[in-house]
Amino acid sequence: MRRIGVLTSGGDAPGMNAAIRAVVRYAIYRNIEVLGIKKGYKGLIENDIKHMDLSSVADIIHRGGTILGTDRCEEFKTEEGFNKALDNIRYRDIDGIIVIGGDGSFQGARKLSLAGIPTIGIPGTIDNDLAYTEYTLGFNTALNTILDSISKIRDTSSSHERTNIIEVMGRNCGDLALYSGLAGGAEVVIIPEAPIDMDTICETIMRGKARGKKHSIIMLAEGSGNAYELKDAITNKFDVNIRCTVLGYIQRGGTPSAYDRLLGSRLGAKGAELLVGGTGNVVLGTKDNVIFNMDIDEALKIEKQFDYEAYELTKILSM
Ligand code: F6P
Repeated sequence: MRRIGVLTSGGDAPGMNAAIRAVVRYAIYRNIEVLGIKKGYKGLIENDIKHMDLSSVADIIHRGGTILGTDRCEEFKTEEGFNKALDNIRYRDIDGIIVIGGDGSFQGARKLSLAGIPTIGIPGTIDNDLAYTEYTLGFNTALNTILDSISKIRDTSSSHERTNIIEVMGRNCGDLALYSGLAGGAEVVIIPEAPIDMDTICETIMRGKARGKKHSIIMLAEGSGNAYELKDAITNKFDVNIRCTVLGYIQRGGTPSAYDRLLGSRLGAKGAELLVGGTGNVVLGTKDNVIFNMDIDEALKIEKQFDYEAYELTKILSM
């Protein structure tokens, strides 16, 4: 292998820049040229590709987002778009590619590998919805950002003796809501993996009020509904002072945590090492904090296990 490419795809996640930096610097250390593909798969189709050197990745390890840009590219899923991408890969003499992204991005990586371009996936999404790995890049930072917001919302909720619904991202995965709920002391956690009825939600809030709690926090995963609709549904049942906060993109940006910088650096370097050695069609992950690689198809088949213990603990501890 002489020349590899790196791209970020799907929703950006803190730590992606640390991973790009590690791919570029590790490959250069092994005398391999690196091309940065802009805006995910779109850059492959549009030939928006640039040579990367040591200084292209200087001063980025502490930055959120992705310096390469990202996109959710529908055109890459079409035969025409995919063929344009392949033409540009050949035109640029790219021998292998590292894709940093989530499950949608890994489908693209799989397609490239099947077409003879060795491709390696690095899990990058705040959602933590890839079952084969313990953590995805960006999840830890997003969780800390959410916790910081919960603490601030608690202060004002407590002063006004209010209930606050905090809606967080995660698509169909409840991990951001569940673990921020446990670590943030939420009274109720509403996630797709554990549907909860309205009576239980109302009873929990009323019980807290009856024993003198000054506020209550409801963590709502976006995959389980909308904060404002939930507020209406609760206030239709009983008289309670509720406010809503939809955290939105605040939780996706920001400087990566130490954990995500370390994870990004380790995954990026391992990805480059494997690709340079000729390995393709795999994704990287961690188990017990050790990095491993796994066939893409096998990884995408694994179903996420619900952390029932964490869910139950949240309920017990917020009595
Ligand atoms: O996948 C990351 C994520 O932030 C999800 O949690 C969220 O549902 C989605 O992306 C939002 O996507 P967009 O950036 O297109 O609004």
